[in-house]
Amino acid sequence: MKIASRVSGLKSSAIMEISAKAGELKALGKDVISLAAGEPDFNTPEAIQAAATKAMADGITRYTPAPGFLALREAVAEHVTRENDFQVSPEEVIITSGAKHAIYLTLQCLVEAGDTVLVPTPAWVSYSPMIELSGATILPLPLFEEDGYRVNVDRWKGMAIPQNARGIILNSPNNPTGVVYTREDLVRLVGWAMQRNLWIMSDEIYEKILYDGAEHVSTASLGPEVKSNTITISGFSKSHCMTGWRLGWAIADKDLIKRMSALQSQSNSHVTAFVQWAALTAAKMPSDTVDQMVAAFDKRRRYCMERLDRMSEHLSYVRPNGAFYLFVNLSKFLSRKKISDVDFCRDLLAQQYLGVVPGSSFGKEKCIRLSYVTSQANLEKAFDRLEAYLKV
Ligand SMILES: Cc1ncc(COP(=O)(O)O)c(C=O)c1O
Repeated sequence: MKIASRVSGLKSSAIMEISAKAGELKALGKDVISLAAGEPDFNTPEAIQAAATKAMADGITRYTPAPGFLALREAVAEHVTRENDFQVSPEEVIITSGAKHAIYLTLQCLVEAGDTVLVPTPAWVSYSPMIELSGATILPLPLFEEDGYRVNVDRWKGMAIPQNARGIILNSPNNPTGVVYTREDLVRLVGWAMQRNLWIMSDEIYEKILYDGAEHVSTASLGPEVKSNTITISGFSKSHCMTGWRLGWAIADKDLIKRMSALQSQSNSHVTAFVQWAALTAAKMPSDTVDQMVAAFDKRRRYCMERLDRMSEHLSYVRPNGAFYLFVNLSKFLSRKKISDVDFCRDLLAQQYLGVVPGSSFGKEKCIRLSYVTSQANLEKAFDRLEAYLKV
């Protein structure tokens, strides 16, 4: 069979590959620790599990409307209006198979072959393949460690932004850097984008995972004109430990939501009925479960930073105040050893049985991303191994 050119060059996620390699070594009996995953290590709160079980028993097992149950679209609209400081109506919400599919549907509906989509980079690994699948080209806009990986539009002054640039993808709190954009960062960035007639996709999937008093500002809350130009992406995957449930949402102009629903109806139909029903419980839950998880992540974040600070002769990093990642610049070490970040990750896994993700998967070479979504005991072992490797 001849594979369509659309997918023949499509790679599966680099993170999933590292996790698979780590899994293989584990199956061989090796004591592997992986700091590659991008998901909380806690189980889904019991109230959400119970809601799913009850929904199944109650027969919520059939087809649902393509954009999701109206009750859930209403609950998400209320949840976002309450917590994100902008008004949302249910017709502006589509329930999708994770935030990822919300991004995919948006791109399929807004981008034509030959268009360009701008992405401040380093950026999450899946934006680029999803942009390419829509027929468009990605234009990375560089972010700099010296700027704390914040967006600094002055840095892009000399860059030629093509006429066919249609939109920009923002992600705060950020994967891989853990940086949370301030209101001022966003105002400048949105002004820059709107001057260029770009729509803004604001991926806010880590919005609840914040430290050091950082505030999450939703792009769409910056005013009605910004809202009408923004597609907000989020969900409960990270905040409510529901990565495997595959439920997220997009919030956008209702005509775009209708197109996305049509596409969803002709592809995956809708999100699993009882998963949607359980998400109603997530939407109405008090925040203490999320707060407890974030407090646990914060402890680990501080521990990891302490350990990294002790290795400063080999590396540098920007203190993250959101998500659950550390993005570490290893250029000092890699230049000395004359190896790439990909070689480093391969070697670290082979020699120390420690899995981390190369920065080049996020569009930034000579760096690695560490996730601290694992136990304190594992983190202690992981940093001992990293230290041992760097000392070689
Ligand atoms: C920045 C970013 N956006 C979106 C997603 C996808 O989230 P979901 O699991 O809800 O599809 C991820 C998952 O890792 C992510 O890191």
